Amino acid sequence: MCGIVGYIGERDAIPILIEGLKRLEYRGYDSAGLGFFSKGALNIIKNKGKVALLEEKINGHNHQSKIGIGHTRWATHGIPNETNAHPHFNKEKTLLVIHNGIIENYQPLKKILIGDGYEFKSETDTEVLVHLIDSFLKKGVTLFSAVRHALNQVEGTYGLAVLSCGEPDKIVVARKGSPLVLGIGENENFIASDVSALIAHTKQVVYLEDGEIAEVYKDHFRTKNIEDEEIQKEIIEVTMSIEQIDKGGYSTFMLKEIMEQPESVLNSMRGRLVHDDGTSKLGGLESVLNRIANSKRFIICACGTSWHSGMVGEYMFEQYLRIPTEVEYASEFRYRNPIIHPDDTIFFISQSGETADTLAAMKEAKRKGALVIGICNAVGSSIARDSDAGVYIHAGPEIGVASTKAFTAQLSVFALITLLLARRKDMSLIDGKKMVEEFQTIPGKIEKILKLEKQIEVIAEEFKNAKNFLYLGRGYNFPVALEGALKLKEISYIHAEGYPAAEMKHGPIALVDENMPVVFIAPKDSTYDKIISNIEEIKARKGKVIAIATEGDDDIDRLADYVIKIPETIRMLMPILSVIPLQLLAYHIAMKKGLNVDQPRNLAKSVTVE
Ligand code: M6R
Repeated sequence: MCGIVGYIGERDAIPILIEGLKRLEYRGYDSAGLGFFSKGALNIIKNKGKVALLEEKINGHNHQSKIGIGHTRWATHGIPNETNAHPHFNKEKTLLVIHNGIIENYQPLKKILIGDGYEFKSETDTEVLVHLIDSFLKKGVTLFSAVRHALNQVEGTYGLAVLSCGEPDKIVVARKGSPLVLGIGENENFIASDVSALIAHTKQVVYLEDGEIAEVYKDHFRTKNIEDEEIQKEIIEVTMSIEQIDKGGYSTFMLKEIMEQPESVLNSMRGRLVHDDGTSKLGGLESVLNRIANSKRFIICACGTSWHSGMVGEYMFEQYLRIPTEVEYASEFRYRNPIIHPDDTIFFISQSGETADTLAAMKEAKRKGALVIGICNAVGSSIARDSDAGVYIHAGPEIGVASTKAFTAQLSVFALITLLLARRKDMSLIDGKKMVEEFQTIPGKIEKILKLEKQIEVIAEEFKNAKNFLYLGRGYNFPVALEGALKLKEISYIHAEGYPAAEMKHGPIALVDENMPVVFIAPKDSTYDKIISNIEEIKARKGKVIAIATEGDDDIDRLADYVIKIPETIRMLMPILSVIPLQLLAYHIAMKKGLNVDQPRNLAKSVTVE
């Protein structure tokens, strides 16, 4: 949520900052701005709207700079406009700040600062930081100390970058609850809120931890904690490549990511299936495997799409492991003083690994002594680093705001964990081997489903003007219904609800008439007959039915208005397949409505504020 980028070196900073902001735009896109040194003075250029508009504005100026910072915003305090866009200046325009996160005690701090004669121009919480740092600078301390003293008064979260005319050879950055990474180059250094903004220039990075402040010069950097103690940081080499974060010939990141799923699911399994033993191998869990296997209870905690994958995980764990499993919204879990035992294992799932609610819930679980497992996509992210152990899903960078390939890779990892633990319990070698073989067919089956895109586009054309949608599924496919509905509402702004199919008659059926499209996830499994009855009930009320059914099931053709047929697999793995047509349906409806699927309104990829 919000993107930060910075450069200090010998090259022209402005194009580097603009390019970095474009890479980070998925984190927030309601306004953007740059702050930089030019001709010995600090300058700010910012505006409402996308980075492309900022770029046009900057092209109208003739600035040269070798040190600068940039920000792309997702508004928390104050509407998206130019005044509220970052950076923010002090009165004398000798100090500027950009900030991700939320300063929770900004109201009392603002009151004190106004009492001291400071004037506020914006509605943001961030402006408090500028004036607070300024007030310490005016006492004659260094920029580093002024930032440190200011942050000691602040409650909340921040990823922060500061420039000051008094010390024009450095960028001061700090982190608490909002990611910040340094990129180490040759006679040049970078800062960013995530590595995608850096990797075009360097793969050597340093992740700041909460409570750390760094001074970044062009040829070195220095890190201290908020108590002013020097800290030695390790330089890490990242493996992400620039191709992975480009559109690769597709018109949108979302379509690219949907189409990448045969490969991303394969990558999530690569090297992890052991056919001869009919099991899986997850290096990241080895040290805690006994503790996981002996747990009395599992909890799965996440937000959004990751929460939906957690629901599928619950079905897998309970079916194969018979370990009671609860799925929790991280935002609720963290605040309701949850009952946690030391023999609980809690799985925290997050594509970004930076979701504020999930991270805070994980800290709470750790404090209470549970074993904490991170299941993340973003390598080196906070949840990945702070968990006791974990598994990367290896989906590759996901840039489209609507999560697609991360969901299917998360499901794959849940299936691998289930197989691993089931083989330590009751599952036989023969059944384990069969399961491994079935896993191996999944990427090919996804490929087959992707070929149905044209058919799905026709359905999208038919329903693009619908005002509401219902998504219904049973068992493993109920979370898929929730995920299908979420995808549609996120990118097409059509109201959509996911329900367990049997619940429909307890309320939602009142909504059904000839204008209500109802998507049924109806593969041939043990609940098939029941779901056919549910389809009959919808048809009796003139609803329009789109069914996701199993190849070879011709009976359903006479009932449903549209049928999308997908290959068969075992129940546990079916959600990996059944969600793909729903992703494509949401995608094509949104595209036909002319909407920006990669950056839907009001959303941001990584929700690093509460
Ligand atoms: O990065 P995370 O997986 O923790 O993100 C959780 C949700 O914010 C995320 O899944 C969100 O719901 C997506 N926009 C879904 O498409």
